[in-house]
Amino acid sequence: MPARVLILGGTAEGRELATLAQAAGFGIVTSFAGQTPDPRRPPGEVRVGGFGGADGLQEYLRNQNFSALVDATHPYAVQISAQAAKACEGLGLARMMLLRPPWQAERGDRWIEVADDAEAAATLPGLAKRVLLTVGRRALAAYADCHGITFFVRLVNPPELMPLAGELILARGPFSVDDERALLAEHDIDGLVSRQSGGEATYGKITAARERGIPVVLIRRPKAPPGQSVHSVAAALDWLKLAAV
Ligand SMILES: NC(=O)c1ccc[n+]([C@@H]2O[C@H](COP(=O)([O-])OP(=O)(O)OC[C@H]3O[C@@H](n4cnc5c(N)ncnc54)[C@H](OP(=O)(O)O)[C@@H]3O)[C@@H](O)[C@H]2O)c1
Repeated sequence: MPARVLILGGTAEGRELATLAQAAGFGIVTSFAGQTPDPRRPPGEVRVGGFGGADGLQEYLRNQNFSALVDATHPYAVQISAQAAKACEGLGLARMMLLRPPWQAERGDRWIEVADDAEAAATLPGLAKRVLLTVGRRALAAYADCHGITFFVRLVNPPELMPLAGELILARGPFSVDDERALLAEHDIDGLVSRQSGGEATYGKITAARERGIPVVLIRRPKAPPGQSVHSVAAALDWLKLAAV
Protein backbone atom coordinates (compact mmCIF):
# COMPACT_ATOMS: atom_id res chain seq x y z
CA MET A 1 0.00 0.00 0.00
CA PRO A 2 1.46 3.43 -0.90
CA ALA A 3 1.72 5.89 1.98
CA ARG A 4 -1.32 8.16 1.92
CA VAL A 5 -0.72 11.90 2.06
CA LEU A 6 -3.25 14.70 2.45
CA ILE A 7 -2.35 17.93 0.68
CA LEU A 8 -4.35 20.96 1.77
CA GLY A 9 -4.42 22.76 -1.55
CA GLY A 10 -5.81 25.74 -3.39
CA THR A 11 -2.42 26.88 -4.70
CA ALA A 12 -0.23 26.17 -7.73
CA GLU A 13 2.40 24.70 -5.40
CA GLY A 14 -0.11 22.26 -3.92
CA ARG A 15 -1.01 21.07 -7.41
CA GLU A 16 2.63 20.72 -8.41
CA LEU A 17 3.42 18.75 -5.27
CA ALA A 18 0.44 16.43 -5.90
CA THR A 19 1.75 15.77 -9.42
CA LEU A 20 5.30 14.98 -8.29
CA ALA A 21 4.32 13.02 -5.18
CA GLN A 22 1.79 10.91 -7.08
CA ALA A 23 4.48 10.13 -9.68
CA ALA A 24 6.84 9.21 -6.82
CA GLY A 25 4.36 6.55 -5.63
CA PHE A 26 2.47 8.27 -2.81
CA GLY A 27 -1.31 7.96 -2.52
CA ILE A 28 -2.29 11.61 -2.80
CA VAL A 29 -5.53 13.24 -1.72
CA THR A 30 -5.81 16.98 -2.38
CA SER A 31 -8.36 18.95 -0.42
CA PHE A 32 -10.01 22.14 -1.69
CA ALA A 33 -12.16 24.52 0.33
CA GLY A 34 -14.73 24.66 -2.46
CA GLN A 35 -14.70 28.42 -2.94
CA THR A 36 -13.66 28.23 -6.59
CA PRO A 37 -16.33 26.56 -8.73
CA ASP A 38 -13.92 24.85 -11.13
CA PRO A 39 -10.48 24.51 -9.53
CA ARG A 40 -7.64 23.13 -11.64
CA ARG A 41 -7.61 19.50 -10.59
CA PRO A 42 -4.34 17.83 -9.63
CA PRO A 43 -3.69 14.13 -10.20
CA GLY A 44 -4.74 11.73 -7.44
CA GLU A 45 -7.93 11.93 -5.39
CA VAL A 46 -9.64 15.25 -4.80
CA ARG A 47 -12.05 16.12 -2.01
CA VAL A 48 -13.92 19.41 -1.74
CA GLY A 49 -15.33 21.37 1.22
CA GLY A 50 -14.49 22.22 4.80
CA PHE A 51 -13.90 19.51 7.39
CA GLY A 52 -15.85 21.17 10.19
CA GLY A 53 -12.99 22.78 12.12
CA ALA A 54 -9.94 21.17 13.71
CA ASP A 55 -12.00 18.38 15.28
CA GLY A 56 -13.59 17.50 11.95
CA LEU A 57 -10.21 17.46 10.25
CA GLN A 58 -8.76 15.29 13.00
CA GLU A 59 -11.61 12.83 12.61
CA TYR A 60 -11.13 12.75 8.83
CA LEU A 61 -7.37 12.20 9.13
CA ARG A 62 -7.87 9.37 11.60
CA ASN A 63 -10.49 7.60 9.47
CA GLN A 64 -8.54 7.92 6.23
CA ASN A 65 -5.32 6.52 7.61
CA PHE A 66 -2.95 9.21 6.35
CA SER A 67 0.81 9.04 6.96
CA ALA A 68 1.45 12.76 6.60
CA LEU A 69 -0.16 16.10 5.81
CA VAL A 70 1.26 18.91 3.71
CA ASP A 71 -0.34 22.28 4.28
CA ALA A 72 0.12 23.90 0.87
CA THR A 73 -2.61 26.50 1.37
CA HIS A 74 -2.16 30.17 0.54
CA PRO A 75 -0.11 32.13 3.12
CA TYR A 76 -3.25 34.17 4.00
CA ALA A 77 -5.44 31.10 4.64
CA VAL A 78 -4.77 31.29 8.38
CA GLN A 79 -7.79 29.44 9.68
CA ILE A 80 -7.25 26.14 7.91
CA SER A 81 -3.52 26.22 8.70
CA ALA A 82 -4.20 26.69 12.42
CA GLN A 83 -6.75 23.88 12.32
CA ALA A 84 -4.32 21.57 10.52
CA ALA A 85 -1.68 22.29 13.15
CA LYS A 86 -4.10 21.43 15.96
CA ALA A 87 -5.50 18.32 14.29
CA CYS A 88 -2.07 16.89 13.47
CA GLU A 89 -0.78 17.62 16.92
CA GLY A 90 -3.74 15.79 18.41
CA LEU A 91 -2.99 12.71 16.32
CA GLY A 92 0.81 12.92 16.36
CA LEU A 93 0.66 13.08 12.54
CA ALA A 94 3.62 14.46 10.57
CA ARG A 95 2.81 17.93 9.11
CA MET A 96 4.78 20.24 6.86
CA MET A 97 3.85 23.72 5.66
CA LEU A 98 4.76 24.56 2.08
CA LEU A 99 5.05 28.33 2.12
CA ARG A 100 6.24 30.15 -0.98
CA PRO A 101 8.92 32.74 -0.19
CA PRO A 102 7.72 36.34 0.07
CA TRP A 103 8.69 38.84 -2.66
CA GLN A 104 11.78 40.92 -2.00
CA ALA A 105 11.78 44.64 -2.75
CA GLU A 106 13.96 45.73 -5.65
CA ARG A 107 15.45 49.05 -6.65
CA GLY A 108 12.61 51.29 -7.85
CA ASP A 109 9.88 49.58 -5.82
CA ARG A 110 7.73 52.02 -3.85
CA TRP A 111 6.31 49.65 -1.23
CA ILE A 112 4.34 50.81 1.77
CA GLU A 113 4.05 47.80 4.05
CA VAL A 114 1.00 47.66 6.31
CA ALA A 115 -0.39 45.21 8.83
CA ASP A 116 -3.84 44.64 7.39
CA ASP A 117 -6.60 45.90 5.11
CA ALA A 118 -7.75 48.54 7.60
CA GLU A 119 -4.29 50.09 7.61
CA ALA A 120 -4.09 49.79 3.82
CA ALA A 121 -7.39 51.66 3.49
CA ALA A 122 -6.20 54.38 5.87
CA THR A 123 -3.02 54.78 3.79
CA LEU A 124 -4.72 55.32 0.42
CA PRO A 125 -6.27 58.82 0.65
CA GLY A 126 -3.70 61.31 -0.63
CA LEU A 127 -1.58 58.51 -2.06
CA ALA A 128 -3.61 57.45 -5.08
CA LYS A 129 -6.91 58.07 -6.84
CA ARG A 130 -7.24 55.11 -9.20
CA VAL A 131 -6.34 51.97 -7.33
CA LEU A 132 -5.99 48.36 -8.45
CA LEU A 133 -7.22 46.34 -5.47
CA THR A 134 -6.14 42.67 -5.37
CA VAL A 135 -6.96 41.59 -1.84
CA GLY A 136 -9.78 39.05 -2.18
CA ARG A 137 -13.51 39.24 -1.82
CA ARG A 138 -13.76 39.14 1.95
CA ALA A 139 -11.47 42.15 2.42
CA LEU A 140 -13.42 44.61 0.25
CA ALA A 141 -15.56 45.99 3.08
CA ALA A 142 -12.44 47.41 4.75
CA TYR A 143 -12.12 49.91 1.87
CA ALA A 144 -15.74 51.11 1.93
CA ASP A 145 -14.89 54.42 3.65
CA CYS A 146 -12.16 55.40 1.17
CA HIS A 147 -13.91 58.31 -0.52
CA GLY A 148 -12.64 59.97 -3.67
CA ILE A 149 -10.89 56.82 -4.87
CA THR A 150 -11.92 54.77 -7.87
CA PHE A 151 -11.21 51.10 -7.25
CA PHE A 152 -10.47 48.53 -9.90
CA VAL A 153 -11.23 45.37 -7.96
CA ARG A 154 -9.74 42.21 -9.39
CA LEU A 155 -11.31 38.96 -8.23
CA VAL A 156 -11.62 35.38 -9.49
CA ASN A 157 -15.33 35.18 -8.67
CA PRO A 158 -17.80 38.07 -8.42
CA PRO A 159 -18.77 39.25 -4.92
CA GLU A 160 -22.43 39.16 -3.91
CA LEU A 161 -22.21 42.91 -3.51
CA MET A 162 -19.66 45.39 -4.86
CA PRO A 163 -19.23 47.71 -1.86
CA LEU A 164 -16.80 50.10 -3.57
CA ALA A 165 -16.99 52.85 -6.15
CA GLY A 166 -15.32 51.60 -9.29
CA GLU A 167 -15.10 48.61 -11.55
CA LEU A 168 -14.90 44.86 -11.13
CA ILE A 169 -12.28 42.96 -13.10
CA LEU A 170 -12.97 39.23 -13.11
CA ALA A 171 -9.84 37.26 -13.95
CA ARG A 172 -7.81 34.31 -12.72
CA GLY A 173 -4.01 34.28 -12.69
CA PRO A 174 -1.32 33.68 -13.64
CA PHE A 175 -0.94 37.23 -15.02
CA SER A 176 1.97 38.12 -17.29
CA VAL A 177 3.92 41.35 -16.86
CA ASP A 178 2.73 42.47 -20.30
CA ASP A 179 -0.90 42.00 -19.33
CA GLU A 180 -0.36 43.84 -16.06
CA ARG A 181 1.37 46.74 -17.82
CA ALA A 182 -1.56 46.97 -20.21
CA LEU A 183 -4.10 46.84 -17.37
CA LEU A 184 -2.40 49.63 -15.40
CA ALA A 185 -2.17 51.77 -18.52
CA GLU A 186 -5.74 51.10 -19.69
CA HIS A 187 -7.24 52.23 -16.38
CA ASP A 188 -4.65 54.89 -15.65
CA ILE A 189 -3.90 53.19 -12.33
CA ASP A 190 -1.84 55.24 -9.87
CA GLY A 191 -1.76 52.87 -6.89
CA LEU A 192 -1.87 49.14 -6.14
CA VAL A 193 -2.96 47.25 -3.04
CA SER A 194 -1.70 43.70 -2.79
CA ARG A 195 -1.01 40.94 -0.36
CA GLN A 196 2.56 39.78 0.08
CA SER A 197 1.65 36.54 -1.72
CA GLY A 198 5.06 35.62 -3.10
CA GLY A 199 5.48 33.35 -6.12
CA GLU A 200 5.49 34.03 -9.84
CA ALA A 201 1.80 33.85 -10.72
CA THR A 202 0.89 37.31 -9.41
CA TYR A 203 4.28 39.00 -9.41
CA GLY A 204 3.67 40.71 -12.78
CA LYS A 205 1.68 43.51 -11.15
CA ILE A 206 4.60 44.27 -8.81
CA THR A 207 6.98 44.58 -11.78
CA ALA A 208 4.47 46.66 -13.74
CA ALA A 209 3.92 48.98 -10.74
CA ARG A 210 7.70 49.45 -10.34
CA GLU A 211 8.06 50.34 -14.02
CA ARG A 212 5.20 52.80 -13.78
CA GLY A 213 6.64 54.34 -10.62
CA ILE A 214 3.42 53.94 -8.64
CA PRO A 215 3.14 53.03 -4.95
CA VAL A 216 2.24 49.51 -3.81
CA VAL A 217 0.48 49.18 -0.47
CA LEU A 218 1.60 45.72 0.56
CA ILE A 219 -0.27 43.87 3.29
CA ARG A 220 2.16 41.89 5.41
CA ARG A 221 1.69 38.15 5.80
CA PRO A 222 -0.13 36.84 8.82
CA LYS A 223 1.94 34.71 11.17
CA ALA A 224 1.97 31.02 10.25
CA PRO A 225 1.22 28.53 13.01
CA PRO A 226 4.20 26.92 14.74
CA GLY A 227 5.82 24.00 12.97
CA GLN A 228 8.23 23.12 10.21
CA SER A 229 8.00 24.81 6.84
CA VAL A 230 9.70 24.55 3.47
CA HIS A 231 9.79 27.09 0.67
CA SER A 232 9.79 24.84 -2.39
CA VAL A 233 7.87 21.94 -3.84
CA ALA A 234 11.12 19.96 -4.21
CA ALA A 235 11.87 20.38 -0.51
CA ALA A 236 8.33 19.29 0.40
CA LEU A 237 8.76 16.15 -1.72
CA ASP A 238 12.11 15.38 -0.06
CA TRP A 239 10.42 15.72 3.32
CA LEU A 240 7.60 13.38 2.29
CA LYS A 241 10.11 10.72 1.28
CA LEU A 242 11.44 10.73 4.84
CA ALA A 243 8.27 11.40 6.82
CA ALA A 244 5.48 9.57 5.01
CA VAL A 245 6.19 5.86 5.34
N1 LIG B 1 -6.70 33.55 1.32
C1 LIG B 1 -6.24 33.76 0.10
O1 LIG B 1 -5.83 34.86 -0.28
C2 LIG B 1 -6.20 32.63 -0.90
C3 LIG B 1 -5.63 32.88 -2.15
C4 LIG B 1 -5.54 31.83 -3.07
C5 LIG B 1 -6.02 30.58 -2.72
N2 LIG B 1 -6.58 30.37 -1.50
C6 LIG B 1 -7.05 29.02 -1.16
O2 LIG B 1 -8.45 29.08 -0.93
C7 LIG B 1 -8.79 28.23 0.16
C8 LIG B 1 -9.62 29.00 1.16
O3 LIG B 1 -8.86 30.12 1.62
P1 LIG B 1 -9.36 30.95 2.87
O4 LIG B 1 -8.49 32.12 3.02
O5 LIG B 1 -10.85 31.07 2.82
O6 LIG B 1 -9.03 29.90 4.04
P2 LIG B 1 -9.27 30.00 5.62
O7 LIG B 1 -9.90 31.30 5.95
O8 LIG B 1 -8.02 29.63 6.28
O9 LIG B 1 -10.30 28.82 5.86
C9 LIG B 1 -11.69 29.00 6.01
C10 LIG B 1 -12.35 27.64 6.09
O10 LIG B 1 -12.36 27.03 4.79
C11 LIG B 1 -12.11 25.66 4.89
N3 LIG B 1 -10.88 25.38 4.13
C12 LIG B 1 -9.89 26.25 3.79
N4 LIG B 1 -8.98 25.66 3.02
C13 LIG B 1 -9.38 24.38 2.87
C14 LIG B 1 -8.87 23.27 2.17
N5 LIG B 1 -7.74 23.36 1.43
N6 LIG B 1 -9.56 22.10 2.23
C15 LIG B 1 -10.70 22.00 2.94
N7 LIG B 1 -11.25 23.02 3.61
C16 LIG B 1 -10.59 24.19 3.58
C17 LIG B 1 -12.02 25.32 6.36
O11 LIG B 1 -13.34 24.97 6.75
P3 LIG B 1 -13.64 23.99 8.00
O12 LIG B 1 -13.36 24.78 9.21
O13 LIG B 1 -15.06 23.63 7.81
O14 LIG B 1 -12.73 22.81 7.87
C18 LIG B 1 -11.60 26.65 6.96
O15 LIG B 1 -11.95 26.79 8.30
C19 LIG B 1 -7.49 27.68 0.74
O16 LIG B 1 -7.43 26.34 0.40
C20 LIG B 1 -6.40 28.51 0.11
O17 LIG B 1 -5.24 27.75 -0.16
C21 LIG B 1 -6.67 31.37 -0.59
